[in-house]
Amino acid sequence: MASDFTIFLGEMLRRPAEVSAIAPSSAAVARLMTRGLDRVAGPIVEIGPGTGSFTRAILEQGVPADRLTLIEMNPRFCETLAQRFPGVRVVNRPAQEIGSLGLSNVGAVISGVPVLARPQIQREVVGEAFGVMAAQGVFVQITYSPNAPIPDEMQARLGIRAVKRGTVWTNLPPARVFEFHRVAH
Ligand SMILES: C[S@@+](CC[C@H](N)C(=O)[O-])C[C@H]1O[C@@H](n2cnc3c(N)ncnc32)[C@H](O)[C@@H]1O
Repeated sequence: MASDFTIFLGEMLRRPAEVSAIAPSSAAVARLMTRGLDRVAGPIVEIGPGTGSFTRAILEQGVPADRLTLIEMNPRFCETLAQRFPGVRVVNRPAQEIGSLGLSNVGAVISGVPVLARPQIQREVVGEAFGVMAAQGVFVQITYSPNAPIPDEMQARLGIRAVKRGTVWTNLPPARVFEFHRVAH
């Protein structure tokens, strides 16, 4: 089988706006993205998994394969994911459709979908994801920006608040992880 890097670069050249990175995230980023998932109840959803860097780390946290759904719009990545992670549900659809997949009470959404400076994606992907999440659910987002990838006004519109989880300087480029929670009323 081709290496993750080869598959990733090939898809980056074919669909640059969607893939939006030159290489899969490192294991260090994957550990930060998936930290604490062993204590999360309910279904776990990963959106934009690519070749599965975060998927592997989610399963290493002890999450059973049958609690995990991957939503990835790229068919080539979906083929790779289905081969690599037997028992995990792989859905070849845009993450905007998360609300129509029969999911509810989701404990965590782990997101590799690029949302920075994309207000429509923020509304349609992050907003829809909160529609299927449990009250205490967490949405975890990778970004290359030092600031929250969703601006304050959009967070207010969506009723969510960002907390920075950390930075992985050794990733290329350095990656930041933010988590979003519903604002308590
Ligand atoms: C930057 S890559 C991240 C891949 C992987 N999570 C990682 O960190 O190595 C972005 C991924 O999101 C996927 N993607 C982009 N927009 C999407 C959308 N609207 N719905 C589902 N997947 C999407 C791309 O196909 C790609 O796999």
